[in-house]
Amino acid sequence: MSSVMLRAFFNGRADIWDETVAEKDVTKLAEMARRLELEPGATLLDVGTGTGVFLPYMLDVIGGDGRVVAVDVADQMLLRAKNKGFKGNISYLYADIMNLPLGGEIFDAVVCYSSFPHFQDKSQALREAYRVVRRSGRLLICHTSSRAHINEIHGQIEIVKHDTIPDTDEMKSMLSAAGFADIVIEDGGDSYLAHARKPQ
Ligand SMILES: C[S@@+](CC[C@H](N)C(=O)[O-])C[C@H]1O[C@@H](n2cnc3c(N)ncnc32)[C@H](O)[C@@H]1O
Repeated sequence: MSSVMLRAFFNGRADIWDETVAEKDVTKLAEMARRLELEPGATLLDVGTGTGVFLPYMLDVIGGDGRVVAVDVADQMLLRAKNKGFKGNISYLYADIMNLPLGGEIFDAVVCYSSFPHFQDKSQALREAYRVVRRSGRLLICHTSSRAHINEIHGQIEIVKHDTIPDTDEMKSMLSAAGFADIVIEDGGDSYLAHARKPQ
């Protein structure tokens, strides 16, 4: 699918996203934010922020000294997030993870909550994540459903049917090819979390 079609797909759902597709289980969202082990005061890149479903949970963990750059290719999704007026240091950036208008080694962590399957060139997205994260910083790819569940749901929707989470071996090899180390993938039950670190 082209980037233009992907943007149109998400922009077309921006109005109804929170009532329909978005995760509504606040316990699962808070638990996932806790599992990311974000440091208070951390600077984060939130990739595929959408309407900001996961933002307040990360803001709770990083606190008032933390900072988030919230990036999305779908301007209408991002506008919904912006209009929610979350308290915290947040910059909203309409951009593509595959080509970020940002300098290198800025972020303590790059978080992709419920967005990674949609990146059309995953290897390029991982190279960009690697470029913008600081040394020893982390990449966190997460979902509040298992890989099997996400892939099954996407498989039922024509426009995103090829937007899948790669299997563990492929994910590890893509992360490692991008330069990441200390790769751990936890998949099962009702969550998915891939962590990786940029070497010192
Ligand atoms: C399934 S939605 C999830 C949104 C939000 N994280 C949530 O949980 O509700 C995926 C989001 O990723 C965004 N996205 C997809 N590809 C992207 C890319 N290449 N760069 C930045 N954002 C992207 C989409 O526009 C969409 O808002």
